[in-house]
Amino acid sequence: MRNLNQDTITQAVIARLSDTPDARLKEVLTCVVQHLHALARELRLTEAELQAGIEFLTAVGKKCSASRQEFVLLADVLGLSTLTVAMNHDKPAGCTEATTFGPFYVPDAQPMASGADLAGDAPGQPCRVRGRVCALDGGPVAAAQVEVWQSDADGRYDVQYEDLPGPRARGVFSTGADGRFQLRSVLASPYPVPEDGPVGQLMRASSGHPWRPAHMHFRISAPGFEILVTQVYRQGDPYLDSDPVYGVRQSLVAPWVPDEQGLYTLDFDFVLQRRAGSEP
Ligand SMILES: [Fe+2]
Repeated sequence: MRNLNQDTITQAVIARLSDTPDARLKEVLTCVVQHLHALARELRLTEAELQAGIEFLTAVGKKCSASRQEFVLLADVLGLSTLTVAMNHDKPAGCTEATTFGPFYVPDAQPMASGADLAGDAPGQPCRVRGRVCALDGGPVAAAQVEVWQSDADGRYDVQYEDLPGPRARGVFSTGADGRFQLRSVLASPYPVPEDGPVGQLMRASSGHPWRPAHMHFRISAPGFEILVTQVYRQGDPYLDSDPVYGVRQSLVAPWVPDEQGLYTLDFDFVLQRRAGSEP
């Protein structure tokens, strides 16, 4: 294997991958090589551009920490997250649609009692959420774990503050026998995706704005059901049709309705898809 040139290099790399024991890994690597090489040929990639790309991805990696996931953000703003979600969650009509996970999820959030205040001392107008988790036949899903996380009135998640003593505006609720859960919180606000890293630089260098429409994140799990990762978007938000991470789905847009005292209420039903082979 000598004297490889631009006409023979791709096949040489693919040939070397041919003995990869894991069939899926072999398929993925072969496909990545084919597409990367095709991209370089189509662009007539220069050495300086390859180096710039390497430096960009290096910066993305260095920006990641326990509370910041710049690679998730990159996948989000390139539409790769939404494409992957769409391909893998083609649910029956009537099930709640999935959408992007986002970079601000933190595992092992605190369990909270039904009706508890999720927000703590987070700034914002008070609201409550009344949810019902059910199956496609309408039957309640009891003891579902409902993980919730959101931004505050300043458009920031707890992990974006350096001086908070602990988690804020995130928690886990459990549904009752009727499939219902409720919580108190504050209204989430639109927020710009983080602009202080390499993905922010990329966005500024291209077109578009960084503002995500106001939303609440949910991750709902229950035995016998597919895990639902989704967001509920606030009706009337000015950014619903220009979300920089392409996550908005019409079925996930809902009103937070104010009463005379200024308390906003969201009522939302989440319909889970049964896992194959777990029909009642
Ligand atoms: Fe978010």
